[in-house]
Amino acid sequence: MPVTDSLANADLSELLSLHDVEEQARQRMSHASYEYVASGAGDEITLRWNSERYRELRLRPNVLRDVSQLDASLDLFGQKHAMPVLLAPTANQKLAHPEGELATARGASLAGVAMVLSNGANTDIHDVARVTGQPLWFQLYVQRDRELTRDIVQHAESAGSRALCITVDSPIEAARNREKKAAVVLPPGTTHPNYLGRPREPRFVAGLDEMRPQPLDWDLMAWLCSISRTPVLLKGILTPEDAEQAIKIGAAGVIVSNHGGRSLDTLPATIDALPPVVDQVAGRVPVLVDGGIRRGTDVLKALAHGATATLIGRPYVYGLGIGGAEGVAHVAKILRMEFLAAMAISGRRTLSEIDRTVLW
Ligand code: GLV
Repeated sequence: MPVTDSLANADLSELLSLHDVEEQARQRMSHASYEYVASGAGDEITLRWNSERYRELRLRPNVLRDVSQLDASLDLFGQKHAMPVLLAPTANQKLAHPEGELATARGASLAGVAMVLSNGANTDIHDVARVTGQPLWFQLYVQRDRELTRDIVQHAESAGSRALCITVDSPIEAARNREKKAAVVLPPGTTHPNYLGRPREPRFVAGLDEMRPQPLDWDLMAWLCSISRTPVLLKGILTPEDAEQAIKIGAAGVIVSNHGGRSLDTLPATIDALPPVVDQVAGRVPVLVDGGIRRGTDVLKALAHGATATLIGRPYVYGLGIGGAEGVAHVAKILRMEFLAAMAISGRRTLSEIDRTVLW
């Protein structure tokens, strides 16, 4: 299956917004690859809410503050980030581009953003680490075999991964009708090397004849926090009580996420789930959020609601699909420019000046 209809990169200079990038990707990526990235679970209601709910929030600017010196940088776990946006873990990037995660890592370096490599990546984290100059984090799918899970964590650490994001929202696969209809097939020879050559366990099985959820629980998370040499973030937290429990078992951060609308449909938009989690956490650990961010104003709104940082997923995979490393960097640069403009026009010079008063 060709990954893109035309491997020649798109003329990025004409793509002014993340929406433009997505539209190009829709036209140029193979149908199956585009569907794999774009689709969500069920009737895609959560997928839609994730971005729609940002649009409904209005901004409340303060004028005539001197914004000639803007600083969007952020210190997270002792790492310097140029802006409060990271590249979220997304699996199978060789569906979008033959260079897959290597191109994403180069793009992240070009744009100065951190990347979270998916456990389901098609490239070994050691190879990714060699081409990125930015912080690299790793996302883990817990395996039934604890030794394999431990080996995966250590493999990521030995490559220099600086934080571990554990996906906790998918003990079983949700109905992903649109993805199934697209009949996605990985390009020949594509593998999942971060499972270390061991048979990749069915992450979660949901079929008409068999249901086999993953045995995930808080004790397992506490064990992972105890063996991890890097900060652990639980990804897929939506409620204050789960955020509280995450802190109790030793998590260094939480990611408010509904898996980009790919898990349980009709979960709320993450921007709606965020404020109660932020209130509960009360500054004890960073709270990150992903899902639906398409504009710099969305990043501003997430921070206004108390997020420490945000992550984008689909938009940079579309950039990858149409322009390889440059496409990824283009997406990150658009978002950075829009975010800085949103800070300036709302009268906020630094991230610490962004709070709920920037919302109308
Ligand atoms: C993988 O995590 C996916 O959402 O497809």
